[in-house]
Amino acid sequence: MQVIRTVAEFRRVRPTISGPVGLVPTMGYLHEGHLSLVRRARAENDVCAAWVFVNPAQFGPHEDFERYPRAEQRDRALLEGEGVDLLFAPSSDEVYPPGFDTAVEVGAVAQRLEGAARPGHFRGVATVVAKFFGIMQPQRAYLGQKDAQQVAVIRRMVADLNLPVEIVVCPTVREADGLALSSRNVYLTPEQRAAAPALYRALGWARERWTEGQRDARVLRALVQDVLDHESLAQVDYVSVADVGTLEELDRLNGPALVSLAVRFGSTRLIDNIVLGG
Ligand code: PAJ
Repeated sequence: MQVIRTVAEFRRVRPTISGPVGLVPTMGYLHEGHLSLVRRARAENDVCAAWVFVNPAQFGPHEDFERYPRAEQRDRALLEGEGVDLLFAPSSDEVYPPGFDTAVEVGAVAQRLEGAARPGHFRGVATVVAKFFGIMQPQRAYLGQKDAQQVAVIRRMVADLNLPVEIVVCPTVREADGLALSSRNVYLTPEQRAAAPALYRALGWARERWTEGQRDARVLRALVQDVLDHESLAQVDYVSVADVGTLEELDRLNGPALVSLAVRFGSTRLIDNIVLGG
């Protein structure tokens, strides 16, 4: 695996690569969710590339940028073990040199839910993704369904800016008890960790009612909220039943719908989602 730290070096290497490049964007502290994307990218492309970059621009001033978990050596060994060919791991100064003053602002789909809870978050995500797509020039990029709104935002940007990258979405990898793998799960106390499967349990109830024929979005939202309200350690930020592409809240489910939620356990904020009818 070639580890590349500067834009200039990536630019030198890129023309020597032939065949489709599959790219896996990450902020590191890798787990099986990330590795599932790597395996898929490797299987479907001649060359598999990844980036590890904890992107300061997508963290709010009071968020966890400083304490976001990092494990560079371990990440590198894991990626090498999965047969990744190219790892781009630049410094913050390399990505945002003095004078950097451009942002990619996606519209309505980036303003709802996570966008409303975390102002500027998707601006930071879209900017770094556009920038790294430009540097790395992948044919395909592999993203996790775990971050469903991130997928919708990046799809919107790729379509609107005509970026020549195919977005491939991979299923959410979960622990045996249903908790979606996340780098932030390490913040949970043992008690919070024991309570956290409530997220997936609540989504499961929504799926069950939907399977029985329930199509009223308000009823499904209330049901999910009710399951979470029974978990005393959980503080619900939002429960949403929305259009998969635009994330507009629905009244009735006539087509595929994204049921998503954000829940806080103490200062740790977890998100999860399922798609109904997709
Ligand atoms: P990060 O949180 O490290 O996630 C990297 C990728 O792994 C994302 O596409 C995310 O959806 C996917 N992922 C995370 N947990 C997963 C799980 N349990 N199952 C399947 N996939 C999972 O998302 C980011 O980084 C950043 O915002 C980034 C896109 C890299 C831009 O900085």
